[in-house]
Amino acid sequence: MTSSRPSVVVILAAGEGKRMKSATPKVLHAVAGRSLLGHVIEAASAIEPQHLVVVVGHGRDQVTAHVSEIAPWAHTVVQETQNGTGHALRIALDDLGSRGISTAEGPVVVLTGDTPLLTGQTLAGLLLEHSSTHAAATVLTARLDQPGGYGRIVRDGQGSVNAIVEEKDATDEQRQIGEINSGMYAFAADRLIECLTGLTTDNAQGEEYLTDVIGLLREAGDVVSASMCADPSEILGVNDRVQLAEAAAIMRDRINEAWMRSGVSILDSGSTWLDVDVDIEPDVTIRPQVTLRGPTSVATGALIGPGTTLTSCEVGAGAEVIHTWAELAVIGEGAKVGPFTYLRPGTVLGIGAKAGAYVEIKNSVIGDGAKVPHLSYVGDAEVGEGSNIGAATVFVNYDGVAKHRTVVGSHARVGSDTMLVAPVTIGDGAYTAAGSVITDDVPPGAMAVGRARQRNIDDWVERRRPGSAAAEAAALAKQQASSADQSEQA
Ligand code: UD1
Ligand code: CA
Repeated sequence: MTSSRPSVVVILAAGEGKRMKSATPKVLHAVAGRSLLGHVIEAASAIEPQHLVVVVGHGRDQVTAHVSEIAPWAHTVVQETQNGTGHALRIALDDLGSRGISTAEGPVVVLTGDTPLLTGQTLAGLLLEHSSTHAAATVLTARLDQPGGYGRIVRDGQGSVNAIVEEKDATDEQRQIGEINSGMYAFAADRLIECLTGLTTDNAQGEEYLTDVIGLLREAGDVVSASMCADPSEILGVNDRVQLAEAAAIMRDRINEAWMRSGVSILDSGSTWLDVDVDIEPDVTIRPQVTLRGPTSVATGALIGPGTTLTSCEVGAGAEVIHTWAELAVIGEGAKVGPFTYLRPGTVLGIGAKAGAYVEIKNSVIGDGAKVPHLSYVGDAEVGEGSNIGAATVFVNYDGVAKHRTVVGSHARVGSDTMLVAPVTIGDGAYTAAGSVITDDVPPGAMAVGRARQRNIDDWVERRRPGSAAAEAAALAKQQASSADQSEQA
């Protein structure tokens, strides 16, 4: 008695993916922050195969490196030349054999690497159909309005699957069939191995078709079953950029629906793109045009967007992030960010802190309640709690050779348009005068003034810009001032 737990899942991914017109192998293109192949591996993992084999060919170095990164337990096998899906599966099974691994313990499941919308649930349904009908093979099928390009499922008078016919080899009548082959199957290992050796290349594409195994099994009197996908989008294969965008949109809707059902408000689902590794607590509101990438997390009550992209960020409860681009930043509870704010890696905003309009921050800790409200650059710094960084302040962290750190203490007030030339320290409670260039440390409580004293050159405009609008305006102002003086004296 074999179990329904697969002995192996083989994912076919050796094809070139020519129509992507890309330097990146097709299966490494991403949807929702995970590669196409990664999505298929995720679905395969749900049915807990004892072994997972990925057949690689085109771009094998990149694909193999990717597999060992995302699924180190999986094994890759190289198919030198792409002689067809049957050939690819044969190579995978030969490789398992040569490593002394038996496939007798459970069904062999075959998937393709370019179907990111496939779910583990559908695979479980395929396995259930396979075991309950005691089939030698069970094909995952779908009914499509436009079945063009796919292999068609040919059934006999009793409705049993008789054969799969490739479009290029099909008769006009067979091309009318709406039920198609997804390219995914469960097989009884012994029957599969026997039939694979009987495949020929006697067909329109001169390849060993895995689909021909179905006809061979029927000729031998085996049972062949079919499991029809309720949602045909699950078997959507990505062959070009148009289908990649289609798959991404369907995945986006799926992900957003799941978050909305778990208590997240998404105001405009069509413009909200959440990667698979994102985590969002209930009562978060996501406004239009938001992209959350990588393992970004958002705590309850936070408001994100509009127009915000966060990559691998952590957003605290009740924080508000408007029109912001941020990566590897921590935004504290109740903090306010934006609009038009750029937070670079290593930014940490404390509880209730603020990074306001046209502010760029990198590798800096902004303390609880501290504020950088307008038009500033903060780099390689530490700003203590409750401090205020005046408008247009620049943390001058780079001397052209090396980066240096700036420390601003707690409750300090850095005047507008201050240049803090690092390395420099502003003490707790210290002030700097607006427009200062601060090159020396400022002791706690001191007021630092680092700018030239102002001098006015009287009547410069009338002498140097005679006849100009400025000169006329100045003359008029002086005239008015002197007549006001006279009437006061009168
Ligand atoms: C295949 C099926 C077709 C089905 C369709 C579903 C065959 C003969 N036909 O057709 O019935 O409707 O998938 O998408 O199987 N691959 C290899 N090595 C090869 C050839 C292919 O690894 O030598 C991989 C490809 O990378 C791809 C998958 O197998 O992931 C399917 O190959 P592809 O050439 O796309 O098959 P189709 O012609 O689409
Ligand atoms: Ca295909």
